[in-house]
Amino acid sequence: MEYQFETNSVENVTAKSLVLFVDQFEKVSNHRLRDIDKASNGSVTALFDSGEFSGKINETATILKPIGYNCDRIILVGLGERKNRTADSFRKAAGTVSRDIGLNASSRVAFCMEKTADKTFFQAAIEGFLLGRFKINKYKSKSKEKEKIKKLLFVTDKARIKKNMTAAVERGIIIAEGQNGVRDLSSAPSNFLTPRDLANKAAALAKEYKFSCKIMDEKEIAREKMGALLSVAKGSDEPPRFIVLHYKGAAAKVKHIVLVGKGVTFDTGGISIKASLNMHEMKGDMTGSAVVLMSLVTAARLKLPLNIVVLIPSTENMPSAKATKPGDICTSRKGLTIENINTDAEGRLILADALDYANKFKPQAVIDVATLTGATLFSLGYEGAPIFGNNPNLMNKIKKASARTSERVWEFPIWQEYRDAMKSSIADLRNSGSRDAGTCKAAAFLEYFIGDYNWAHIDIAYVDIEINGRPYIPKGATGIGMRMLVDMLINWKK
Ligand code: BES
Ligand code: MN
Ligand code: ZN
Repeated sequence: MEYQFETNSVENVTAKSLVLFVDQFEKVSNHRLRDIDKASNGSVTALFDSGEFSGKINETATILKPIGYNCDRIILVGLGERKNRTADSFRKAAGTVSRDIGLNASSRVAFCMEKTADKTFFQAAIEGFLLGRFKINKYKSKSKEKEKIKKLLFVTDKARIKKNMTAAVERGIIIAEGQNGVRDLSSAPSNFLTPRDLANKAAALAKEYKFSCKIMDEKEIAREKMGALLSVAKGSDEPPRFIVLHYKGAAAKVKHIVLVGKGVTFDTGGISIKASLNMHEMKGDMTGSAVVLMSLVTAARLKLPLNIVVLIPSTENMPSAKATKPGDICTSRKGLTIENINTDAEGRLILADALDYANKFKPQAVIDVATLTGATLFSLGYEGAPIFGNNPNLMNKIKKASARTSERVWEFPIWQEYRDAMKSSIADLRNSGSRDAGTCKAAAFLEYFIGDYNWAHIDIAYVDIEINGRPYIPKGATGIGMRMLVDMLINWKK
């Protein structure tokens, strides 16, 4: 699919399918709709009168063979009420359109962005379109679907807007490709994505997008005294990896932002084994690592003027004769000893060593992203991610990015009682308290391992998967978190 940008008016655009974003309307009063109505023998009025279409969010209607237009069809897609219109209205509308049968059979598609000058709307439209079309075919023996769209045109009616529109769409393409990259990794089965595979993937991306990559194997991990990570890896025949990625987009004196991602390529629970129902979903327990990896790739592609480090502790969590057993005690990189009450609470162990390793970079901020606790299902469910942190300024950066990208987060507390719950009677800490407030207690555990830096923790359990399908989030891995982090990085200095 190629992209093309032009200044033109709707009736002069040449394409097979023409997409028009329309505000919800009371009657056919908009001049553009009136023109189409006339050219199609009153079909817009008929659609409106029948109640089939009035521009409600995600509604679509197709007008075939409109007279006086250089296209086979005009696809109207609703943005909802004008007063509620945001970038996400465009993301949703374009996501809906992205699966339109007629559009998908067209070799040349035009998005008519008439009367819109807002850069965020252009960006959101292409994001929604590319995110909505995401599909995984590579595990099918015969992937039948072939891309029919050869050209995607973005059309504005005002010459002075074209430059902004082009830049915004190009940014949106890079960001959507990043999120689709997260989905790809997140959906990869554990036999296709082991810790070594993940490391190789990171190394390949580092080469392609020109950032540096250091991969530590089990020996180097031992030399770093990452006893918590090693205690999780013990049960597996697949060796762990610790991945360090470094993007230098600013002068050396600019302090680093460190992003940490949980990279458990499969979580059986270990000896504290999980129930078999839905266990297959635990192939996605490395989604935090995919989010931070693709955030870095995207930051590099956008040439952001920042210094960013990504840390990924990666391992499987397996039961075996060699596995860590409940009650076992390990010593973390920081020196704190941890009693392993429940081997299924493995994510916090591997993050503990990574959060301590982050001190090496004297970071200005550290953000970790992890599918950490199943308990998120009972707090925010699939609708948003709990966030924690120790610095209001950093939390605000995240919240603002969240609002702009419509990837929802909500701040939760770390109260003293949660910290106390993570103390062990025999070691310094235990990896599991009681089940209540599980998400907060996991965050409280992590907090013991942070250094003297601004820190935020994002628990993406359950927002990483979509059950029903939404306009621009097909069923399966969502890749949520990456657009928000990238938006935060883009706006870092503001
Ligand atoms: N990877 C899971 C959390 C998870 C569960 C993510 C379901 C997505 C969907 C994590 O390693 C885990 O097992 N956490 C335990 C912790 C408990 C044993 C303290 C949990 O949440 O049950
Ligand atoms: Mn687990
Ligand atoms: Zn896990």
